[in-house]
Amino acid sequence: MKPWVRVSSFLLVSLLVSGIGGADGVHQPQPTERISGSAGDVLEDDPVGRLKVFVYELPSKYNKRILQKDPRCLNHMFAAEIFMHKFLLSSPVRTLNPEEADWFYTPAYTTCHLTKSGLPLPFKSPRMMRSAILLISSKWPYWNRTEGADHFFVVPHDFGACFHYQEEKAIERGILPLLQRATLVQTFGQQNHVCLKEGSINIPPYAPQQKMQDHLISPDTPRSIFVYFRGLFYDMSNDPEGGYYARGARASVWENFKDNPLFDISTEHPSTYYEDMQRAIFCLCPLGWAPWSPRLVEGVIFGCIPVIIADDIVLPFADAIPWEEIGVFVAEKDVPKLDTILTSISPEVVLRKQRLLANPSMKQAMLFPQPAQPGDAFHQILNGLARKLPHNKNKVYLKPGEKTLNWTAGPVVDLKPW
Ligand SMILES: *[C@@H]1O[C@H](CO)[C@@H](O)[C@H](O)[C@H]1NC(C)=O
Ligand SMILES: *[C@@H]1O[C@H](CO)[C@@H](O)[C@H](O)[C@H]1NC(C)=O
Repeated sequence: MKPWVRVSSFLLVSLLVSGIGGADGVHQPQPTERISGSAGDVLEDDPVGRLKVFVYELPSKYNKRILQKDPRCLNHMFAAEIFMHKFLLSSPVRTLNPEEADWFYTPAYTTCHLTKSGLPLPFKSPRMMRSAILLISSKWPYWNRTEGADHFFVVPHDFGACFHYQEEKAIERGILPLLQRATLVQTFGQQNHVCLKEGSINIPPYAPQQKMQDHLISPDTPRSIFVYFRGLFYDMSNDPEGGYYARGARASVWENFKDNPLFDISTEHPSTYYEDMQRAIFCLCPLGWAPWSPRLVEGVIFGCIPVIIADDIVLPFADAIPWEEIGVFVAEKDVPKLDTILTSISPEVVLRKQRLLANPSMKQAMLFPQPAQPGDAFHQILNGLARKLPHNKNKVYLKPGEKTLNWTAGPVVDLKPW
């Protein structure tokens, strides 16, 4: 027996007998742990009373009608833009008096143009966004006062407000120039990337809660899988050499561990996917970098410790969720050592991470439930906005006559009316 096999059997055995489940067959609540004294506490903050949001009323062609045309957008990974609108309309933080608003919200569904197979086509998004901004800046005085610095926009597309799904093109485009001063709420998060600007609020992708709940199994179920992953390792159509897709991290996992009994990894997506995550100790999520993956959300919901192999990633609500304590961060270059890294984590550390993951506030923060619930992702977004208050008057408000935005910057096609 190789040493790591022995270490890990020890780990598995200790997890099985460690009292997570009741040996007497009675379902006991899973032990959980609060993260006291660290940032985790702010997950339970109540944003009500800490900020006021004015929701612009736009013609229905910017939102309602777009959704009527394609209701699939409601189940899409990018559905946060729609649900956030719905949430704000009935939220107690909403104000009907723009003069007392701290933040302004523009409900334009820029990610709801889907192909037959459900992939979003963001080519018209910049024109639509520009059109919406032109409208609010001509009808209300608030945009011109700050050129957007007290406005926030939900841009859940792959590369946020760069509005392209190919990274090279997204980088070439950059963030839509008119959004330069605005606060962006987005799923895309990578440090030092042109599509993530300072001050953005990173959110989880929308994941259908009911579907996940339908697959919950008893929390007593032993975690008999050591490492679990389902997904592509190579992208043959776009990257036949296998070096670029997910920056090679997925290919490396496959080549190094495909025959390793501790690794339950495959491209096949089984019908027991959600149940398997509840039987696993570690889930590779995200693996290499993929902006649209709901895996991290699933890992948290199902209590599978996320092994984060994505250099420079910015995780959702990272100023409120202590990801370092919950997950395991592995550098992409260390993928070949993944087995040793994971098997040398002590059972105590694994158990602590599992207890933190079992904390309901952690799961709640990953979800956009209908209707909203305290502590959910909607509330975390508001908390994030509230923490930016009060606005720095010198930075946010322009002096009379001062202009910083260039309304004709960016690709010429984006200037066409929408
Ligand atoms: C805001 O500024 C733009 C461009 O400078 C101008 O066309 C528009 O009329 C202004 N909006 C208001 C409400 O004054
Ligand atoms: C605004 O952007 C356009 C297009 O890139 C450029 O030609 C123009 O010089 C810019 N205007 C200013 C004032 O920087």
